[in-house]
Amino acid sequence: MKKILIPVLLSTIAFSTPSMAAHPMCGKTELAQIMDDMKDHMKAVKKAFKVGDMDKVSSIADQLLAAVDNSYDLVPLAISDKAELTADQKGDFANYQKGMKYLKGAIEELKAAKDMGAVKAALGKIGKSSKKGHKAFKMDCDA
Ligand code: HEM
Repeated sequence: MKKILIPVLLSTIAFSTPSMAAHPMCGKTELAQIMDDMKDHMKAVKKAFKVGDMDKVSSIADQLLAAVDNSYDLVPLAISDKAELTADQKGDFANYQKGMKYLKGAIEELKAAKDMGAVKAALGKIGKSSKKGHKAFKMDCDA
């Protein structure tokens, strides 16, 4: 009896624990929507880069710049879901905006790039800023 009961109990525990989303708005905010669009722009810019279409790289850079401008004043959910921020949250938000400024600079470099080497360097900076920004400010929706 015991031999059967223990595995049954263990599997009941394993399968009954619901995976709770981190926040009901996780992945559904205005910022998340803009970020999703940026992901599509990045895909398109890498494609244009591969075929050496510099005009297209520049026009997509403009779309990315507009997205960054729209993201700048939006508070990441991981910092707060309220309009009023505490002093600590204000500090975190200032750091988020610093990350956005860095991203903006990298996209401006992308737009100004005159050769493939410069495009590659700018794309590297964009990738770095995104990795750093997500590590610090992006909530894990599956957590
Ligand atoms: C071109 C660069 C970037 C791309 C392509 C990108 C892409 C994404 C994607 C695909 C998501 C998930 C959206 C969803 O849940 O549906 C996301 C979320 C997020 N990203 Fe980015 N990201 C970039 C740069 C950054 C930077 C530089 C920061 C911070 C300084 C940042 C902060 C965030 C935050 C905070 C979220 C969660 C949104 C929320 O709080 O509601 N991202 N990003």
